[in-house]
Amino acid sequence: MTTWSNKSIGAIAHTNIALIKYWGKKDESLIIPYTSSLSLTLDQFYTETHVTFDESLTADVVMIDEQEVNGQGWQRVHDFLSIIRKRAEITTNAQVVSTNHVPTAAGLASSASAFAALAAAGSKAAGLDLSHQDLSRLARRGSGSACRSIYGGFVEWRRGTDDHSSYAVPVTADNGLSDVQVIALTVERHRKPISSRQAMRLSVTTSPYYPTWVKIAQTDLAAIKSAISNDDFTKFGEISELNAMRMHALTLSANPDFMYFNSETLESMNMVKQLRHNGIECYYTIDAGPNVKVLCQRRHVNDVVETFTEMLGADKVTLAKSGPGVHYL
Ligand code: DP6
Repeated sequence: MTTWSNKSIGAIAHTNIALIKYWGKKDESLIIPYTSSLSLTLDQFYTETHVTFDESLTADVVMIDEQEVNGQGWQRVHDFLSIIRKRAEITTNAQVVSTNHVPTAAGLASSASAFAALAAAGSKAAGLDLSHQDLSRLARRGSGSACRSIYGGFVEWRRGTDDHSSYAVPVTADNGLSDVQVIALTVERHRKPISSRQAMRLSVTTSPYYPTWVKIAQTDLAAIKSAISNDDFTKFGEISELNAMRMHALTLSANPDFMYFNSETLESMNMVKQLRHNGIECYYTIDAGPNVKVLCQRRHVNDVVETFTEMLGADKVTLAKSGPGVHYL
C-alpha cells in the first residue's frame, strides 16, 4: 500500500530524437521492442504535466494544451493511469493537465515527452516513489520512445525480454560529442497520415527486410556507442544517417508501402549532402514523419542554420542541443 493525498504533482520531460531507431514491437501490449535503440534528449522541446488524483472525480479528465481530450487520446491516458493505479493500489480518478512547449512548430509535440512527464507526475501523485529505472519501465508502457526521455543526453533503451528487463539507461558522453547540435527542420506541422504504431506493425508483418533490420540494428548500436565514447563525430553522423534510412526502407518495403517524406524532406536531405560535399560536416536523421533533424558540431552550426533558414524560412528552423532528464516542479 502507498500513502497519497490529492496533491497536484507537476513534472517536465523533454522529447528525444532517436539516432538508432526503435521500429517494431515484439510484444504490443507491454511495448517490448525487437531491437535496442539510442537517442539524444533535446533541450528545446518538452512537456509539462500536472496530475491530481481526486476522489470527487467520476472519470479521468485530460486537458492537453488547454483543450479537453476525449476519444482515443483520452483512452490512451486513462489506460496509462490505470497501470499507475494498479501499482499504487488505488481506484481514484485523476485530472491530467499537460502543456507542450514547442518553440515554433506544433508538429514536433511528441508522445515521448508526454508519457515520460505523465509517468513521473502520475506515479508521484499516486503516492509511488519510483526509481529512474522504474519510471523508464513505466513510461515505456505509454509509448516506447518515452522510456528514453526519463534521462538527459544520450540514452540507450535496452530492449530486454519482458516488462522487467526492458528500460533505458544513460550513455555517458563526457567529451565533444555531448555538444552535438541538432537543427530541427519543421517542414510539416500536421499530424502524420499513418501513426508510428500502425506503421511499425506493418513493417514487422510485411517487410521482407525486417529480420535483417533486427540484425543490423545491433551492429549500428554497438558502432554508435563506440563513436560516442571515442568522440568520433564523423562515425556518429554516418551511422545515424544510415540507420534512419534503413528504418525508412522498412516503410518503403512494407505492403502496402508508404513513405513519410515529402518534397521538402527530400530537398533538405539533398542539401545536407551538398553541405557535406562543401566541407560543412552535417548528417540527417528522420523519425516517423517528414521533419528532418540535422546533426552537426558547434563550429558548423551557423552555416547550417543559415543555409536552412534561407531555404525554408526562419520559422521552420529550430536549434536544439542535449537536454535534461525528467524533473519535478
Ligand atoms: C520513429 O515511441 O512513438 O520515433 O511505442 O507505438 O508509442 P509507440 O511508438 P513511438 O515510436 C517512435 C518511433 C521513432 C523511432 C524512435 O523514437 O526510436
